[in-house]
Amino acid sequence: MCGIIGYTGGGQREATPILLRGLGRLEYRGYDSAGLAIQTDRGVVTRKLAGRVGGLQALVERLPVHGASGIAHTRWATHGAPTARNAHPQVDCHERIALVHNGIIENADALRAALERAGHSFWTDTDSETLVHLIEDAPGDTLEARVIAALEHVVGTYGIAVVWAEEPGKIVVARQGSPVLLGLGDGEYFVASDAAAILDYTRSIVHLDDGDIAVLTPESYHVVDRESHVQLRAVDDVTWDLEEIELNGYAHFMQKEIAEQSETVRSTLRGRLVFDDGTARLDGLNLTPADCAAIRHINIVGCGTSWHAGLVGRHILETLTQIPVTVEYASEYRYRRLVMSPDTLTIAISQSGETADTLEALRAARAARSRVIGLVNVVGSTIARESDGGIYLHAGPEIGVASTKAFTSQIVALALLGLYLGREHGLALAMRQDLACRLAQLPGLVTRALALEPEVRMLAEEFVQSRNALYLGRGVNFPVALEGALKLKEISYIHAEGYPAAEMKHGPIALIDNEMPVVFVAPHDEVYPKVLSNMQEVKARGGRIIAVTTEGRGDVGTLAEHQLRIPETAPLLSPILTVIPLQLLAYHIAVLRGCDVDRPRNLAKSVTVE
Ligand code: F6R
Repeated sequence: MCGIIGYTGGGQREATPILLRGLGRLEYRGYDSAGLAIQTDRGVVTRKLAGRVGGLQALVERLPVHGASGIAHTRWATHGAPTARNAHPQVDCHERIALVHNGIIENADALRAALERAGHSFWTDTDSETLVHLIEDAPGDTLEARVIAALEHVVGTYGIAVVWAEEPGKIVVARQGSPVLLGLGDGEYFVASDAAAILDYTRSIVHLDDGDIAVLTPESYHVVDRESHVQLRAVDDVTWDLEEIELNGYAHFMQKEIAEQSETVRSTLRGRLVFDDGTARLDGLNLTPADCAAIRHINIVGCGTSWHAGLVGRHILETLTQIPVTVEYASEYRYRRLVMSPDTLTIAISQSGETADTLEALRAARAARSRVIGLVNVVGSTIARESDGGIYLHAGPEIGVASTKAFTSQIVALALLGLYLGREHGLALAMRQDLACRLAQLPGLVTRALALEPEVRMLAEEFVQSRNALYLGRGVNFPVALEGALKLKEISYIHAEGYPAAEMKHGPIALIDNEMPVVFVAPHDEVYPKVLSNMQEVKARGGRIIAVTTEGRGDVGTLAEHQLRIPETAPLLSPILTVIPLQLLAYHIAVLRGCDVDRPRNLAKSVTVE
């Protein structure tokens, strides 16, 4: 989704290269146009275009723009086509104020009509432009006073950074529902929607809260609320390295992130397993044993891949705790009239910690008096900060738009939670200890599953021309079928569907012919014999079967054209291994089709609009 970076310094450095570099670091979020505005001796000068940051770089080489402060943006179109005209920064009628905006202004139509009646001319079709005209008209001697006054009229979500020709070197930032953070340097300050944009320059960051207004100058920064009362905000240190957001020899971030999974699974587990007691050390949960014992219902919310992890989590948690679990799309949950049973624990799962629907679902659950915990990867993200407690995934930055390593770490975190809650809900010590040992073995097993890559690459060559694919699984591996299908469709644009294997005969079986690849997720578990029957049904109709099975347990040789064998683990943990060949298959098919794997069309990494 849209990305923001802003910079102000005392003149020791040019703003333009800093902004361009920051935009480059945000490219992974998905965008269609880019632009920057620099405060120069001649006022605010903008450069923008439809296309990539590389194009913007070429544009400023042709038409240089010099100054020590400025703002920049990558836009993912919502209101108005992805054209140069609609790209940010947006400017007022006299091109004295420039603004970049992430989020959506819900009352933009009404605001625009009123502003046009008052004589403003609009340059673009965007909702964001209303903000800059409101600031132009707002009362106040300082930019921050004008921004505060303008925002009074706004309904919607925003993270904004604004500059004004009258106050060179000053950047005003505001946040409501769309993440922005400040970066603190030595005689220079930054604003960004994502720490990746500024990590080349500083590790000290300040996360802003909703309602905050920040004022940055080369000398200092401060944060105020809408009544201009000063707010104190903690300064955090970013603990991950830039190396983690570099390709380091891999062709794509997705490939790198798939390959990293034995390390990321290890990292999610690190320091958390207590073998003697068969439990997990999860201090960040803020749940006492008595709190755990009191839980009568668990409700999981998330979107996309995180929702799939939640579906796996239902099996894990119900088996280990005997507590009933529901799993909901966050986008649906937030608009339902919630009937919350007492003693419900809500778990919000999100890699980014910024997904708007998941955040609102969390808030809805909290309003309905549920305790809320977050399973989040990005440290300090909004969901992490708004939860009562949580488990960080510690999977490192996930840059590829298609989520991979976050999924496996989410399942590991859910299993740790299962151990933790299971202890207070009667799960036998021996079972807890066995699961703790099985969890500890996972990094090694993931390495072995990753060794399937050459086989998977050959399969990808065979199926690269397919136009459709079915993914089938049962039990704890049905969500893996959904995830395999999602990976394929989002990066290769091949239509793919995931189904519970037995459900297939209630409709989708009509699609099967000798051109339809059918991927079965069939590790050796209690439903394996049933899955074999489902394979027979597909085989009888000429479907081309690829089966993910367990090494040395069960042979589907006569049924499947291809078998991908993963190492054995506890059935509940098998999704962490079965998903790996499916991630690799989607990746290699997409590469062979020449798709932009890390930046699939129409997708964004962090979906901060509903
Ligand atoms: C799919 C994918 C998305 C995300 C979804 C939720 O590969 O990446 O489906 O899983 O947008 O994102 P988070 O986990 O950041 O809340």
